[in-house]
Amino acid sequence: MKKLLSKFPIKWRITIWTTIVLFLLFSFFAVFQYFFMKYWVMHYEKTIITEKMREVQAYLLENKAITEDGINNSSHFLENIIEKNELIQIEDKNGDIILSLSNDLTIEGLPQIALPNQITSVKDKSDHYLIYKADIAGSSFNGTVELVRRLENYTRLFNYLFIMMVIAILGAILLSSAGGLLIANQILKPIKALSLTMQKIKSKGLKERVPELHSKDEITELSDIFNEMMDELELSFNKQKRFVEDASHELRTPISILEGHLSMLKRWGKKDPEILEESIAASLYEVRRLKDLVTDLLDLTRIESTSALKEAFNPILIIENVIKSFNMIYPNFTFIKNFTIGTDIEIFGVRRQFEQLIVIIIDNAIKYSQTIEEIKLATDMQNQHLLIHIIDYGEGIPNEDLPYIFDRFYRVDKARSRANGGNGLGLSIAKEIVENFDGTITIKSELGQGTMVSLCFPI
Ligand SMILES: Nc1ncnc2c1ncn2[C@@H]1O[C@H](COP(=O)(O)OP(=O)(O)OP(=O)(O)O)[C@@H](O)[C@H]1O
Ligand SMILES: [Mg+2]
Repeated sequence: MKKLLSKFPIKWRITIWTTIVLFLLFSFFAVFQYFFMKYWVMHYEKTIITEKMREVQAYLLENKAITEDGINNSSHFLENIIEKNELIQIEDKNGDIILSLSNDLTIEGLPQIALPNQITSVKDKSDHYLIYKADIAGSSFNGTVELVRRLENYTRLFNYLFIMMVIAILGAILLSSAGGLLIANQILKPIKALSLTMQKIKSKGLKERVPELHSKDEITELSDIFNEMMDELELSFNKQKRFVEDASHELRTPISILEGHLSMLKRWGKKDPEILEESIAASLYEVRRLKDLVTDLLDLTRIESTSALKEAFNPILIIENVIKSFNMIYPNFTFIKNFTIGTDIEIFGVRRQFEQLIVIIIDNAIKYSQTIEEIKLATDMQNQHLLIHIIDYGEGIPNEDLPYIFDRFYRVDKARSRANGGNGLGLSIAKEIVENFDGTITIKSELGQGTMVSLCFPI
């Protein structure tokens, strides 16, 4: 059955199963009800015949000295007891009939299988009878009383009920399959919408979404998750696209400059040592820039797909080392350290990435400092988080640029950054790293006053 069903579409499987279950439930209930009623009505009929027998016996035994004649004389009383469809017959101990009374019933033709002193139920072609044969033992009369009751109403009622039951069961098949189909359609509607959307995405692109269903079931949840997933996918797809566009744009500039210098050299530079010198220097500069750019781009993709070893380490030692290196390259810069945390504080992540992060931020602080060549570094603890502030007193960042400084290739003052050799990738790499640490990076800045970069890490 299961194997056979698995060949059908889900809709028909649900329909078939619900039909079977509904049908079985209803049929069981109808059949149970039918037989329970049958049993109950039969019980009632048996009570009636028992009561009657008791009445007859009581009457006959009351007159202890009753004789066969006396019995014949009591036919008036017995006639009153007997109703339509009933028969009473009194026999003596030899089996001879003394009295036989009935309204419209004859005992002939009835199978004579009645057992003494108990009620027997007998059926012929179309009728149903109850037969009760009981002994009577008076002082002057010994014999049997036989009561027969034709269950006319009972038979008619249950014939009707049987037909109705069959009709109801047939109706139940129809209704339950309609119900099953309805349920299947209800269940599958959102799934259909989902698969339709997927098809549209396949043919038209990432913009398509599953229409909102405004209900709170598992399938709505599924389509919500699907929509969210598509949002993320579209976002990261667009990001990638923009990144490739930006990257090729950024690469094109130094390459065109290189091309310009090389073709100039080819045309007349070889003979003019001054042009030769100048062009080679400029080309070298552009090549270095290209190299930096490519290194940065590689860094960025590497951080995104990081599988490097993560460990717990103390950040202060690393910061101290980075400062030492910068101090060697920029001896006229002063670094003011205000580290309030102990060496027992540890953060979790890739050690080399943390070092790179500090380098990027201190590099900016140095690069964008003007007359005050001083950089302040401070640490702080705030509800289970380590805060690291790096403060400079340089040119600052205009308010309108602040939202974009973490974007790839974004530079506040394009011309000046170029002169400083910036690619606009530092802070986007920094952000990527901080996210790998489950931390946050925030920048506060005042134009012409200075900048404060705050890093926050869970410990
Ligand atoms: N401490 C700072 N003071 C002033 N401006 C800053 C500071 N840090 C960053 N900026 C501004 O934000 C921009 C983006 O910084 P980011 O580090 O991403 O790029 P970059 O320094 O120009 O180039 P790269 O770091 O890739 O060499 C910079 O161009 C600069 O204008
Ligand atoms: Mg930078």
